[in-house]
Amino acid sequence: MNKQIIKCLFPAAGYGTRFLPATKAIPKEMLPVLTKPLLQYGVEEAMSAGISTMAIVTGRGKRAIEDHFDRSYELEHQIDGTSKEPLMSGIRSIIYDCTFSYTRQVEMKGLGHAILTGETLIGNEPFAVILADDLCDNDGEAVLTQMIKLYEKYQCSIVAVEEIPMQDTNKYGVIAGKEIEDGIVKVSNMVEKPDPKDAPSNLAIIGRYILTPDIFDILKDTKAGKGGEIQITDALLTQAKQGKVIAYKFKGKRFDCGSVDGFVEATNYFYEKKIN
Ligand code: G1P
Repeated sequence: MNKQIIKCLFPAAGYGTRFLPATKAIPKEMLPVLTKPLLQYGVEEAMSAGISTMAIVTGRGKRAIEDHFDRSYELEHQIDGTSKEPLMSGIRSIIYDCTFSYTRQVEMKGLGHAILTGETLIGNEPFAVILADDLCDNDGEAVLTQMIKLYEKYQCSIVAVEEIPMQDTNKYGVIAGKEIEDGIVKVSNMVEKPDPKDAPSNLAIIGRYILTPDIFDILKDTKAGKGGEIQITDALLTQAKQGKVIAYKFKGKRFDCGSVDGFVEATNYFYEKKIN
């Protein structure tokens, strides 16, 4: 029997320096688009893909994340029976329906290192990864749902990709490969944040991954790459060379909420959606 994806890992240890001073005492994953923190959008996406086990890699100064996904008896007591009660219903059902476990990344050594830190929460099974600052929205199936369906067919690691302007390749992991089905590329090369002149294509990885558990041993052997950090892109390249990575041109919208521009764009988009 093939193993199902039942866990989602959320690397959430980064400093969020692009949002200083807001992120001095507030985790960047807790910044709200309208009234909901970025991380809650990610958790809801995982839930809509049938996942209820959330594994979160945090770091110092991130305790607000744990408090958010927990009961708040005093607050609930205050608002129960008032017109404000419905504002809490979404987060309440998340707390009841999901389990949350946490581990801390003690040193910031990159996304690959953060994912490796999560091994203790994931164990020996395939898992999903959501980077909460890539906020995705769809009218149809969520990006992670689309990817899990693909996993059922291909049983290998999967990265979600989108076409970007060539001048932006130095902001993303960039892939190259052969299209084997409409929108599905068998990856043969991937490079972390290449200069446009060195980029193998304009297909950029966004913050949605399905990873097979052999990635952990590969990460243990992966040396620091771009920026002196352990990169998930480099570890995935090892799998890709074994023919075990596909890239998926997902359906839907994605906002780079790790940048102020993307964050404002997402806020406007969700506001328009709410009032219409
Ligand atoms: C990370 C990854 C990169 C990927 C991006 C998606 O970069 O290292 O490969 O394209 O997430 O958001 P970061 O944005 O953390 O610098």
